[in-house]
Amino acid sequence: VRERTLVAVKPDGVQRRLVGQITQRFEQRGFKLVGLKMLQAPEEQLSQHYHELRRKPFYPSLLHYMTSGPIVVMVWEGYNVVRTSRIMIGDTNPVEAQAGTVRGDFSIHISRNVVHASDSVEGAQREIELWFHQKELMDWACCDHSSTYQI
Ligand code: CMP
Repeated sequence: VRERTLVAVKPDGVQRRLVGQITQRFEQRGFKLVGLKMLQAPEEQLSQHYHELRRKPFYPSLLHYMTSGPIVVMVWEGYNVVRTSRIMIGDTNPVEAQAGTVRGDFSIHISRNVVHASDSVEGAQREIELWFHQKELMDWACCDHSSTYQI
């Protein structure tokens, strides 16, 4: 099966010009970009995306943060992409994030943690359906790294 995950550069990541560096990390690791767009996240979609957090005290400020500017949402495909992406972005709280991870290299505070990645295969499927239409996902192949994708 082709595993896919949703990665989003949050408003602070866009504002700090980190989209290229974050995208580059996923490309150089060997994952395949199959969907990409920039949008001002509608509150309705965010409330579905974060439905498990709706009773948390930080939920209103999370919505405020996530609507403070455009986000870039991406779908990455490849072997173990869900788990690997979570390791690549680092711990949710930047103070716990290892150097070499996105959050470990680019952030200091949990409420401005630059990036999102789905936390499970099921979560990824739900989030990809929430943010992308099927026709926005590109099914492409090429010779580069093809052996990685076939694992
Ligand atoms: P993420 O794991 O991408 O999705 C949930 C987000 O909620 C998380 O990143 C943080 O941005 C935010 N979040 C989680 N816990 C806290 C907290 N204690 N205070 C503020 N924001 C939080």
